[in-house]
Amino acid sequence: MASVSKGKEAGKDKIAELARRRGFLWSAFEIYGGASGFYDYGPLGALLKRKVEEVWRDFYSREGFYEIETTNIGPRRVFEASGHLGSFTDRAVVCKHCKSFFRVDEGVDVSEPCPECGGELEEAGEFNLMFQTRIGVPKGEIEGRAQKKSEGYLRPETAQGIFLNFQRLLRFNRDKLPFGIIQIGKAYRNEISPRKSLIRLREFTLAEAEVFVGSREKNNHPRFGEVKDKKLRLIPREEGGEGEKEKEKTIGDAVRTGIIANEYLGYHIAKVEEFLDAIGIPMDKLRFRQHHREEMAHYARDCWDAEFFSERYGWVEIAGMADRGDYDLSAHASHSNTDMIVHLQPQVQGEADKDKVKVKTKIIPHVIEPSYGIDRIIYALLESAFYEEQVGKEKRNVLRFKNEITPIRAAVFPLINRDELKKRARQMFQKLRDEGILVEYDDSGSIGRRYRRQDEIGTPYCVTIDYETLENDTVTVRERDTMKQVRVPVAEVKATMILSGG
Ligand code: GLY
Repeated sequence: MASVSKGKEAGKDKIAELARRRGFLWSAFEIYGGASGFYDYGPLGALLKRKVEEVWRDFYSREGFYEIETTNIGPRRVFEASGHLGSFTDRAVVCKHCKSFFRVDEGVDVSEPCPECGGELEEAGEFNLMFQTRIGVPKGEIEGRAQKKSEGYLRPETAQGIFLNFQRLLRFNRDKLPFGIIQIGKAYRNEISPRKSLIRLREFTLAEAEVFVGSREKNNHPRFGEVKDKKLRLIPREEGGEGEKEKEKTIGDAVRTGIIANEYLGYHIAKVEEFLDAIGIPMDKLRFRQHHREEMAHYARDCWDAEFFSERYGWVEIAGMADRGDYDLSAHASHSNTDMIVHLQPQVQGEADKDKVKVKTKIIPHVIEPSYGIDRIIYALLESAFYEEQVGKEKRNVLRFKNEITPIRAAVFPLINRDELKKRARQMFQKLRDEGILVEYDDSGSIGRRYRRQDEIGTPYCVTIDYETLENDTVTVRERDTMKQVRVPVAEVKATMILSGG
């Protein structure tokens, strides 16, 4: 039996080192010394990220939501209206001694010593987190004065692109509520001092769903019954009183007692958990924490974070669920002078009602938003899938990814380096690739080393071709976690892998 190490040490730099060495991710601009808050994904990281995004798309598509793709850059007026220009700021402090800047948060405050050198900190003011750019040739430059008209910003969230297109999306939905729209894409925030790998990036991927619903319908989700008995670890906001405590509650109870504001928010909190479970975030490392009032974004009426417990960074937000009310649609309606109203059809109750004058109700819908930080989720997956094991005298590193998200599905090896085995192994490799299964071929080094390499990148199956294969068309399939090998007919290799999820 392998002994497993999964302590704090296992969570430290070993993951970053493995991620770099095996082609998952590393600091961007490495050859120029890097820049904090920017990461590049290598071949396996890009595959892993794409798989997580595909599971996410599929998950929300089953909710009936359509995906759109909107621009990354927007003119100043958009962010004046959305409130990001005025309110999307963080407070910073600076060290009097080493001049390092820090974002003021739970860990750093002006009364604390500098986390870098222990020096004295002082207030450095509020900083807007948006990256500014310019759109076209700014007239101001030609005339020698600044022109607000050419000012552009990189989006700090993908959500605004959905709100701006609300009228068209409503038409697409045949003028009916509720409906949901999703978007996955890059967002940009000029963070004051990003020092935590994928946890705080300046350019990152958000996956967001915006659900438009009438305010009176928020307490009436048609599928609430499916989630109401699901138990969650909740940390509700505590105003005054004895401080916050974790409570295990069913979603139904949490909504009924007002801990979660309404059924729509409750339903989507449950869905966030379901998705995170589906991709392999360990449920014993997940909790939902309600924001304090002063912590909430300017647009939010209520907000909950899904937090993952990282061995390295402590509790980290990996998704957020906000009730944005009608903040965004009302703001864009008044700034752009556009109608963001939905005309609700009157409900006919029965025969007696038939001849009454029917008046349409006009409303501005509310928005419930589940928003996922994909890069943070990738970090959480790497950290929680990573195991160091002692197998006899040897050590092995394993990434125990779920089959649904593993970058490489299987590796095909010839047992030994002989032409006839290599030829047969290459044939099998090509056949599986042609069938759309992402497999690798490897004939370098000992078979043991080849297994270790695949374990370390999370490949769930290794298929070995030996002399028996040439005689009776069977191969060995070795499973990553148990390291058990079974002999199966070549014709069943694909089914063995496909039936095992993903
Ligand atoms: N749309 C969620 C966020 O900006 O964090």
